[in-house]
Amino acid sequence: MSAAPLHPLAQAANEALAKDCPAVLGMLSERGKRFFFPAKGILAQGAEAKQKAKTANATVGIATENGAPMHLACVHKYYQGLAPTEIYDYAPSYGKPELRTAWARKQRAQTPSLGDQPTSNPVVTNALTHGLGLVGDLFLDPGDEVLSSDLMWENYNLNWETRLGAHYNYYPFFDAGLRGYNLKGFGEALARFRGRKLVVSLNFPNNPSGYTPTRAEARGICDALKAEADAGTRLVVVVDDAYYGMFFDDACETESLFGRLARASENLLAVKIDGATKEEFVWGLRVGFITFGVKNGTAAAYKALEDKTAGLIRAYVSNISNPGQSIVLKALNDPEFHAQQAEKVALLRSRAAATARECRKAEYADCWDVYPFNSGYFMCLRLKEADADTVRVRLLDDHGVGTIALGKQELRIAFSCLTEAQIPAVFASAAKAVRAVRGR
Ligand SMILES: Cc1ncc(COP(=O)(O)O)c(C=O)c1O
Repeated sequence: MSAAPLHPLAQAANEALAKDCPAVLGMLSERGKRFFFPAKGILAQGAEAKQKAKTANATVGIATENGAPMHLACVHKYYQGLAPTEIYDYAPSYGKPELRTAWARKQRAQTPSLGDQPTSNPVVTNALTHGLGLVGDLFLDPGDEVLSSDLMWENYNLNWETRLGAHYNYYPFFDAGLRGYNLKGFGEALARFRGRKLVVSLNFPNNPSGYTPTRAEARGICDALKAEADAGTRLVVVVDDAYYGMFFDDACETESLFGRLARASENLLAVKIDGATKEEFVWGLRVGFITFGVKNGTAAAYKALEDKTAGLIRAYVSNISNPGQSIVLKALNDPEFHAQQAEKVALLRSRAAATARECRKAEYADCWDVYPFNSGYFMCLRLKEADADTVRVRLLDDHGVGTIALGKQELRIAFSCLTEAQIPAVFASAAKAVRAVRGR
């Protein structure tokens, strides 16, 4: 807890939330309550000068030459098609305004169930990991409860548990027969926190299983969350759409659950974490977004949340890479974008189909169960009577095949990184490794 008095801007943001979305104020962590965007200091003076300083602008912490950001030829030769201001200038802490608008347009076009529900403007993050970190900063105090499926991206633990001291609770992702999403387990787990504050993380297409709920399952998830919120649980529901758009089966729900959750209840704050990383195949550019939605959310309440988020960004990293944002914006506006993206998704779809054929061959039935998969970059095997990490090492040492062991039984295979021609041998080798470890 900080001994410093609450800054008047934090107080104003909290008052806006108290007035329009009181439940959301109660969801904030102590840090979240304290944060604000320092709009009245250097940044405000700089913005004012940008408008009015027609003779000379000596406010900005960059260097200029010939009316553009100063730069070195040995750096500039690596950039083509971007102006110096699109590369070297600072981006605002909230992100480039045109990119935020373009991403908001894309989100709405892909999420018809949002209808006319207002949401915050997306704030640009240093890709999705940073967005998840910001969620933790805003909503998690030590000991606060988080609910996640057991199949999850392990970096959540490092971020929210190790870094922030949150308390994790798990439910089994799949039903016992591995037929689909474990709606019953999810509902029962939620009910244990009735009347309290709970951060729920949802990630579809899921890492590591590669599963996206069917439309009926998706409806069930949203209904269960709404029912708990209506029963008094204050829910922060994080919708991690990292692999959005990589759907390979007609049964998949292809809309982000954010659309329905953002209008579900005043007790349910939906937080969409998405970005260009996987969708646009630009892992190293580091461009992501955080967007808030809550029933009866007002412009003032969303501004308070955006300001707190941008304040945290300002405090940690000041702002996000300008060239990354400029490139993502140009891609979104490129007439070839959708066709090129669809081409890559089709390639992943054919690898997923080849994977599905190979991994389910009858000759491997003694080696593993296959977790259902229909989307994303990965699939997961549940090994029979063999320790996953021992199999992983055997597979690597004896066959030169790299996989990821998770837990005691799960072996994750990223078919996104395999050519179709490689896929049969990967599973044949995996079966050999399992049998070698088992001794039969
Ligand atoms: C489910 C999930 N969320 C978030 C991320 C983080 O993505 P980024 O590289 O954009 O930080 C990953 C990356 O592997 C992921 O699998």
